[in-house]
Amino acid sequence: MRKDFGSRPWFYPLPVLIIATYNEDGTADAMNAAWGGLYNSDKVILCLSSNHRTTRNIKERGAFTISFADAEHTVNADYVGLVSMDHDNEKMKKSGFNTEKSKHVDAPLIRELPVALECTYEDETDNGNIIGRIVNISIDEHVLTDERLDLSLFHPISFDPVNNEYRTMGEKTGSAFSSGNKLK
Ligand SMILES: Cc1cc2nc3c(=O)[nH]c(=O)nc-3n(C[C@H](O)[C@H](O)[C@H](O)COP(=O)(O)O)c2cc1C
Repeated sequence: MRKDFGSRPWFYPLPVLIIATYNEDGTADAMNAAWGGLYNSDKVILCLSSNHRTTRNIKERGAFTISFADAEHTVNADYVGLVSMDHDNEKMKKSGFNTEKSKHVDAPLIRELPVALECTYEDETDNGNIIGRIVNISIDEHVLTDERLDLSLFHPISFDPVNNEYRTMGEKTGSAFSSGNKLK
């Protein structure tokens, strides 16, 4: 027996994306976004409220970075989703995140988060979603093994929208484009 819950924004797994931008005065801002994903092979789409500082920054500076929040920085990631730079200009100092300028786009990278997409602002959809082009992906060496991202070293978290919780990804369950061959 299944129970109906109606139309709700429940989706699994939802990412915990930390979008970082520069403010008008050159200081950094960051926010937490769960509603975002790939748009095509070199583009991302973000569903951002137009009244966030981040949204204005993206349009004004034409760039942003997306870092995947990890388990080690759950508190920091949640904090930047609770407080707006419009209400507290000490937000970044309090967040515990430190930034450095991306070499590829006019946006900050968060030093504590090892995997980031560096994007330029491409366009806005008719209903206001932000489309960005992935210019570069940078990964801190400490989460690489033999030049590949190693998920035993990097622990991205996911947002559970039903229970309002963050969770890590679990164990490997199979090999993509391969495990299914058993049933052919
Ligand atoms: C778990 C979580 C997910 C969020 N997802 C989104 C989202 O997808 N889109 C959005 O516009 N805001 C989202 N927010 C809210 C923003 O992160 C929040 O309003 C933030 O303070 C905006 O900061 P800014 O004004 O400094 O840019 C989310 C917050 C949390 C805690």
